Amino acid sequence: MRQRIVAGNWKMNKTRDEGLALVSELSNMIADEVSGNVQVVLCPPSIYLAAVGKMIQGSGSIALGAQNCHQKAAGAYTGEVSAAMLRSVGVQYVILGHSERRQYFGESNSLLKEKTDIALEAGLTPIFCCGELLELREQGVHLDFVRNQLTESLFHLSNEQLRRLVIAYEPIWAIGTGKTASNAQAQEMHAALREHLASRYGQETAQEIRILYGGSVNASNAEELFASPDVDGGLVGGASLKSREFTDIVKAAAGKS
Ligand code: 13P
Repeated sequence: MRQRIVAGNWKMNKTRDEGLALVSELSNMIADEVSGNVQVVLCPPSIYLAAVGKMIQGSGSIALGAQNCHQKAAGAYTGEVSAAMLRSVGVQYVILGHSERRQYFGESNSLLKEKTDIALEAGLTPIFCCGELLELREQGVHLDFVRNQLTESLFHLSNEQLRRLVIAYEPIWAIGTGKTASNAQAQEMHAALREHLASRYGQETAQEIRILYGGSVNASNAEELFASPDVDGGLVGGASLKSREFTDIVKAAAGKS
């Protein structure tokens, strides 16, 4: 049985006071309502990581995640944050290869290979994002495209390293659009990705990897999306900015909605 994960990606939203107020609400609501079977990950902007980490310290069900890290260990990279720096302030997870980073910051599969390596080296758990544009789905090449994202960025990893990863499938056409993948579309992709992992790492390892769905997940569609056998939780954007809505998504993952 894979433990489900619900991760909230705040993206570039919230001032410090707004962000900390949200964490304070969430830590009360989630402590009451979630049993040990869902791992919640909060991914605020990096400038608030230490403060959020302090607030959730000691909470078994809420962990801290960053939205990005640099691909090098240290050095003259003005403005950047390294994986080891994140780890040193208590970060456990890091989102890598989000489609917004791929699109606006030119992150390629080969760059993400480096980022994955450095994150693992620092002891972080990467939440590795993949997903296709609508036109690729319309051309019927979406499965191959996303499989290739995994091959090019992850397939150099050892079996032991891969087991430390979480994958997030986020179809780009579903991000921030209010359109979600249907259950069948999500299940088809998640099963294809698990099969792809199995072809390189074996069934046993593939069955252990959590594959999250992201793209307009909200309190009303979460339960249905999480019901698919290969969907192990969600990576949530907009709906993670509201305490009630995010808590309801966590409840759906815990089977308590
Ligand atoms: P939305 O939930 O706002 O569609 O964003 C999804 C996402 O990009 C999470 O990383």
